[in-house]
Amino acid sequence: MSLKKAKALIAHSERLCVLTGAGISAESGLKTFRDAGGLWEDHPVEKVATPEGFQEDPELVWRFYNARRKAADIATPNAAHLALARLESGGVRKHKMKPKSGANGNGNGLHPEAEAPITILTQNIDGLHQQAGSQNVIELHGSIWKVRCTGCGLITTDYPIEVPILPRCEECEALLRPHVVWFGEALEEEVLAAAEEAVMACDAFLVVGTSALVQPAASYPFIAARRKVPVIEVNMEHTTVSPIAQFTLLGKAGEILPKII
Ligand code: OAD
Repeated sequence: MSLKKAKALIAHSERLCVLTGAGISAESGLKTFRDAGGLWEDHPVEKVATPEGFQEDPELVWRFYNARRKAADIATPNAAHLALARLESGGVRKHKMKPKSGANGNGNGLHPEAEAPITILTQNIDGLHQQAGSQNVIELHGSIWKVRCTGCGLITTDYPIEVPILPRCEECEALLRPHVVWFGEALEEEVLAAAEEAVMACDAFLVVGTSALVQPAASYPFIAARRKVPVIEVNMEHTTVSPIAQFTLLGKAGEILPKII
């Protein structure tokens, strides 16, 4: 019954927001963080995912991220990523979108991405949504495929899967780091703004495979719910989002998403 209702809500949505977490990539063979056997069980967060940890032992941090680059390289999108990509390419009810008014021709001042029929806000850094074909993806926590200079800030992607340790910037010789958001760091301003616009513009909100414990991502379904936007959750277990969700569909994302999309 909930499956049917969730399917109807998504089918009638003109602007769907989807928040995804590590659980959506679990069926692609990538470890989550907080489940049993998850990444944070074997790797102390403060050593591999904080600016202080990187300062103390950049080699350890690069080894950790190289292992993740290798795992992400052999992973392929699963049925959940593909279902979301199909929804976007199908142009969910794009034809039905109301004409916009306003000085910038954009009505409420949103940029085009926020007006797309589906926006994926992902906490994942693996790139699997894009590999599946999704285009309107906001990478909240950066990308494992990007490398950033700690000196000049230059962002590059042209590195082998295993980045040579310790990598140096070709421009300024400073140490390079993964272009990902670590604990204690803020999200990029543009990313934050785009995510907030999408959350404020959506008319349905789908939360998939996240424990919803890390801010600001965890706040997005709550903001949507305060706007009276229906929230649908897909997860193997109940989370902090469950109390405000219209439904929590318990099960694997790769099995449930193709059914509701
Ligand atoms: P977590 O490891 O905290 O949560 C993964 C969630 O996915 C759990 O709620 C699982 O129940 C669920 N799950 C597992 N397998 C699933 C499946 N096949 N289908 C559906 N759900 C499944 O991962 P995130 O919530 O993504 O941040 O963690 C958020 C952030 O915390 C990450 O982006 C990372 C981490 O520390 C940084 O590194 C900054």
